[in-house]
Amino acid sequence: MVQNVVWVVSILLMAVVAAIFIWVADRAASPVEDYRPMAAAAYRLRPWLFVIVAVAMTGASWRTLGELPYRGVARAATLAVPAQRVDVLGEQWDWRITPTQVRVDQPVDFHVTSKDVNHDFALYDASLHIVAQVQAMPGFDNVLRYTFQRPGTYRVMCLEYCGLMHHVMASEITVVER
Ligand code: CUA
Repeated sequence: MVQNVVWVVSILLMAVVAAIFIWVADRAASPVEDYRPMAAAAYRLRPWLFVIVAVAMTGASWRTLGELPYRGVARAATLAVPAQRVDVLGEQWDWRITPTQVRVDQPVDFHVTSKDVNHDFALYDASLHIVAQVQAMPGFDNVLRYTFQRPGTYRVMCLEYCGLMHHVMASEITVVER
C-alpha cells in the first residue's frame, strides 16, 4: 500500500523534473530575456513557501512520530510490575533466545549481544509490522525494553546484513496471557 503511494509520488515528481528539463532545454535556444522581474517575484514568494513547508512538516512530524516503536517503553513505565528478562545471542546465522516465552502487559528487558559480527534483533507482530529493534553487537549488552500489548507469536528477524545466510536468521517469541 505505502509502497504503491511512494511509487506513484516518485513517478509524478520525476515527471515534473522531466517537464522542467524539457522547458529549460526548449527556452535555451531562444534569445536572452530579462529574468529580473521574475526573480523579484520569486523572492517575494519565498517567506510564504517557508511558512507552508514549516507548517506541513510540523504537522507530518506530529502525526508520524507517535507511531515509533518506543511507545511500548512509555507504557511499561506506567506499569508497576517487574520486568521479565530475555537473553538474546546473535550468531551467524541463528538466534539463541532464553526464554522464548514471555507474558503480555509486563515489560521485557531483552539483553542483546552477538557472538561474531553485528546483527540486528528485530521483533515483528503477526502482520509482520516491526514493533521494536536493537543492534546485536559483539562485546556489548544492549538492553531493549518492550511491553507486548497482545498475546501471540512474534517473529524475530535479523535487520542487519551479516553475511551469506542473513535472510535465514529468524526465530520466534511467544507472548502469553498473564
Ligand atoms: Cu544476522 Cu543479518
